[in-house]
Amino acid sequence: MRTAEIRDRFLSFFAARGHTVVPSAPLPTPDPTLLFVNAGMVPFKPYLTGEQEAPWPRAASVQKCVRTLDIEEVGKTTRHGSFFQMNGNFSFGDYFKEEAIAFAWELSTTPVADGGYGLDPERIWVTVHHSDSEARSLWRAVAGLPHERIVARGDEDNFWSMGVPGPCGPCSELYYDRGPALGREGGPAVDEDRYMEFWNLVFMQYERGEGPGKSGYPLTGELPRPHIDTGLGLERMATLLQGKDNLYEIDQTRPVLDRAAALAGVRYGADPRSDVRLRVVADHVRTALMLLADGTTPGNEGRGYVLRRIIRRAVRSMRSLGHEDPVLPELLAVARDCMAPGYPEVADAYPRIADRAQGEEDAFRATLRQGTTVLDTAVARAKKDGARTLPGAQAFLLHDTYGFPLDLTLEMAAEQGVEVDREGFTALMNEQRERARADARARKSGGTADTSALRALLDAHGPTDWRAWDTLTTESRVLGMVGAAGPVAVAREGQIVTVVLDRSPFYAESGGQESDAGRLSGAGAEAEVLDVQRPLPGLVTHQVRVTAGELAVDDAVVAAVDPEWRLGARQAHSGTHVLHAALREILGPTALQSGSYNRPGHLRLDFPWRGALSPAVRSEIEEAANRALRRDLPVGVRWMTLPEARQLGALALFDETYGERVRVVEIGGAWSRELCGGTHVEHAAQIGTLALTGESSVGAGMRRLEAAVGIEGFGYLARERDLVTRIAEQLGAPRAELPERIAGLLDRLKAADRENARLKAQAVAARAERLAATGADAHGTLVVTATADGPAGDARALALAVRDRLPAGRPGVVAVAAEGGVLVVAVNSAAREAGRNASALVKRLLNGRGGGAAEVAQGGGVPGERLREVLAELPRVVGEG
Ligand code: ALA
Repeated sequence: MRTAEIRDRFLSFFAARGHTVVPSAPLPTPDPTLLFVNAGMVPFKPYLTGEQEAPWPRAASVQKCVRTLDIEEVGKTTRHGSFFQMNGNFSFGDYFKEEAIAFAWELSTTPVADGGYGLDPERIWVTVHHSDSEARSLWRAVAGLPHERIVARGDEDNFWSMGVPGPCGPCSELYYDRGPALGREGGPAVDEDRYMEFWNLVFMQYERGEGPGKSGYPLTGELPRPHIDTGLGLERMATLLQGKDNLYEIDQTRPVLDRAAALAGVRYGADPRSDVRLRVVADHVRTALMLLADGTTPGNEGRGYVLRRIIRRAVRSMRSLGHEDPVLPELLAVARDCMAPGYPEVADAYPRIADRAQGEEDAFRATLRQGTTVLDTAVARAKKDGARTLPGAQAFLLHDTYGFPLDLTLEMAAEQGVEVDREGFTALMNEQRERARADARARKSGGTADTSALRALLDAHGPTDWRAWDTLTTESRVLGMVGAAGPVAVAREGQIVTVVLDRSPFYAESGGQESDAGRLSGAGAEAEVLDVQRPLPGLVTHQVRVTAGELAVDDAVVAAVDPEWRLGARQAHSGTHVLHAALREILGPTALQSGSYNRPGHLRLDFPWRGALSPAVRSEIEEAANRALRRDLPVGVRWMTLPEARQLGALALFDETYGERVRVVEIGGAWSRELCGGTHVEHAAQIGTLALTGESSVGAGMRRLEAAVGIEGFGYLARERDLVTRIAEQLGAPRAELPERIAGLLDRLKAADRENARLKAQAVAARAERLAATGADAHGTLVVTATADGPAGDARALALAVRDRLPAGRPGVVAVAAEGGVLVVAVNSAAREAGRNASALVKRLLNGRGGGAAEVAQGGGVPGERLREVLAELPRVVGEG
């Protein structure tokens, strides 16, 4: 019976018995105790605890589940899958034990022809909690099971909870005897492989408190009304009904396994080690498909990391099987075809799924290629030295330089029987973090040679009255100036100095925003502001070039930011926030900005991500950003304490020490909320547009997005449009057809090149044939001379072709002249035996200007017209020996 049929029978059986059929919830769950749904009851938890009133007294579902706790077991046992489907029937304070037992028994044993699963009642065993005599009696009464097939077990096996405080209760499990070939007699307590569990009936009666393990917690009370929660493993039932050994061989997974075997060129069943790997691939590819379909993207933490690990394990298993080429594009498509009948979302989202998976696989393959050799060498060295542990420094190198996460190093080392010094690794990671922080601090102090003169100004006048957030112009006074050689009293035209003002409207470079441009104008001087920094806390400095007159200490000046510049800067900085939020909207929260830079019109943003973003994902991000502009999200600035900001989920991107109160910039409220000291637009539409102009790698696992905003953004788009127009005109094709047209042209070009090469080879062969017949005897050696139509390469090809056509056994020498004064000489083997040497001949003909091998050599440096004479010399030179 196909898996889809097992699923349908389950749902119609329970629907006919008053259950509402509820669709599967997506795998990622909002439940704070879990990453993914891992049991059928998870979406119903609020109804079981009484937190919410259940909308129906009875429900049934087939729920997608992911469990990765026992991921190492996948493929090794017959019954662990990282993705599985749990069929469940639920009673929310409605029926209890008796009906639950009766339903399970009826569906399991009703013959297939009558809509059931047709299991042999004689081969079903059940377990009950040792305290649950009620369940034991019910099994006897309802199913007529004999005492010996009702096994009592303790809390470890027959008391079910979710591992956290919440509803729980004793349970009763149904097992099926798969026959003596698979293990010993004696029921589930003796052998859980031969006796396979397929259905768990949980009698939810109690609430539990905190505590470890399966029984180390107190029961804190009884539920107001008891509930039923059951779980029938869909894959396990399919294993039984399809007569398979394990769940990787059922109809929903076997095609993936077979395709993996075909790709790797191995036969399933021939070697137990390969079999385990094939089963891992079959399981993991399906899990990756289902996670991607539900919107999880690979990343470095939480859900994303689970997915990343699954994908990597699948790719590595294929490599261990000897298949080094990409695997996911093929295998995911097979998995899709297996799963789409029950889950149409898999087919709908497939282009996105394939795209993400391929990006992830490509990145991982690159990582693996580089890191594996390093790891293997290190393991070999450790083994040679008799060590069983790889030094932490090695794991750190792999992490730092090759992007190998620690668990990958651990796994790969373990495969070769070596452990890794984790503590050493952690210590090095911490050191590196410390270094990075110290580095950042050093950079921030400005690194200027003469901070003492600046410090003196700060001490004398106090902090700069800094107005960049509220104005573009201030009336200011020059408090002091510093030049290359220390304090300066007067700066003349052309001189560059650092000016300290009492008050300034200029934005000092920080938080990725470039400093403002503008002017200082006084009664006797004009100066252009080149750079603005904050070398000491509270002190803003302006590097200026005096463009007219003389600027002196104590001068009154008007300090004015260039308004155009500032508008551009605000657009760019707000654009950076918008792009960051869009990035996280599309890629998920792991795409956290790790650096940025913006100046009027342009911005760039770095973030950790493996693998290039595909064009489709790039467009999605760009669209999300421009959606914010189109919706004209309001931009707001709020001051609050750091804990308040954290509470609101504001992103604090740098290791800055913020003062008492922090500045939080919001775009569209919670959509984008970052701690930021920059200057921003008032509402998103003022950014104009945001056009992505580049996506590139900046080191292992780090990507950079670049964009143009405002007028530069429109300019960029206009230039792109003009370019497309020009190409369309040149090709005389409608724009929409350009990619196809160009692909067609390239194909034709390639075909023409091939044809050209073929014709040329033919022509050379024909000419060589004719030339070979012109050989003239010189002192017992056939001599041929010719001139090629093309460059040296053509001459060489022609010389060799002629040589190979000379009569075998007769010594022969061929010389061909080519464009640019090149001469090629080739000799055949009979000539070699007779002592002729191509290299020596070239040297003699060209007075030493050339050489090469004994069979073929070339030289040059002779004016073209002289070559004819040189060729004519050949018979004589050959005669000389
Ligand atoms: N919630 C029960 C289980 O997961 C049915 O086994």
